[in-house]
Amino acid sequence: MKPRTTVRVGLLGWGAIASQVGRSLLSGAVPGAELVAVSALNSPGDLGIPHVGLAELPLACDLIVEAAGPVALSSLIPHLAGNNTDLLIVSVGALSDAELFKKLFASPASNADGSSGRTFLSSGAIGGLDILAAAARFGTISSVQLTTTKPSRVLERPWMTPDMIRALTTEEVVECFSGTAAQAVEKFPESVNVAATLACCAGDWNLVTVRVVGDPTATRNVHNIVIDAQAGNYRFEIANHPSLENPKTSAVTAFAVLQGISRYAHGNGVIL
Ligand SMILES: NC(=O)c1ccc[n+]([C@@H]2O[C@H](COP(=O)([O-])OP(=O)(O)OC[C@H]3O[C@@H](n4cnc5c(N)ncnc54)[C@H](O)[C@@H]3O)[C@@H](O)[C@H]2O)c1
Repeated sequence: MKPRTTVRVGLLGWGAIASQVGRSLLSGAVPGAELVAVSALNSPGDLGIPHVGLAELPLACDLIVEAAGPVALSSLIPHLAGNNTDLLIVSVGALSDAELFKKLFASPASNADGSSGRTFLSSGAIGGLDILAAAARFGTISSVQLTTTKPSRVLERPWMTPDMIRALTTEEVVECFSGTAAQAVEKFPESVNVAATLACCAGDWNLVTVRVVGDPTATRNVHNIVIDAQAGNYRFEIANHPSLENPKTSAVTAFAVLQGISRYAHGNGVIL
């Protein structure tokens, strides 16, 4: 398959996900896509890739891959105004912020922020999103239930009671949270992008309920997803190995991003 043109990719972030994506692009893993710039708090080091400021990033590339978190995404948006740069969001949990969501998606023809680039969401750590989106088109979705189980040690948060923090250091399996997707994103901003992705595909944040469970014996990040819809009933269990660099992140996420870049760069033969 011969790519038509080379897509210039810029990375926002150089952490567990972005550095894997960057190194893979540099090694030619995605024909038709090249890494041209990185913007991050840390430097990409001696790889010969320009380390640029946020304002320069949209000018340097065709597609920005955001893998730096909600604050960085929010800071990038004003710099997108008035150019055609497309955006692939990995920190999907950021979209629980209604203002940010409006800025990105208010009007597909002419974005509210004045840019004309498109915004894509990475499938990230999970699959099954295609059937969920199809079911949402078919008819009513009654519920989407997500149970995320992670090693207890990665779930400790400052808002937790001393009892819960203590429980997370024992042999017990602990339910740390139960509530809506929007509440889950607030409590575990780095850990429940999956809840936000399901909410975006279902088209309604209120349909998605979330449980977060800490298991001291867990060696994988497990997402159990149960969808009850007019179109049918669906169950997925996704058990991902954590990234060695950042155990809150599943290692496969960077490769979902690479798959997304590949589809973007030359869509022939991909599943749509
Ligand atoms: N969609 C999914 O399924 C999914 C899965 C895992 C992680 N994520 C999200 O992806 C993002 C990246 O994850 P990671 O594991 O690579 O994180 P990480 O902590 O390893 O790396 C974060 C990177 O962002 C940079 N950064 C942070 N704030 C910045 C700012 N204001 N401006 C510029 N750069 C900034 C840091 O310098 C670092 O390079 C996180 O928001 C995480 O929640 C999404």
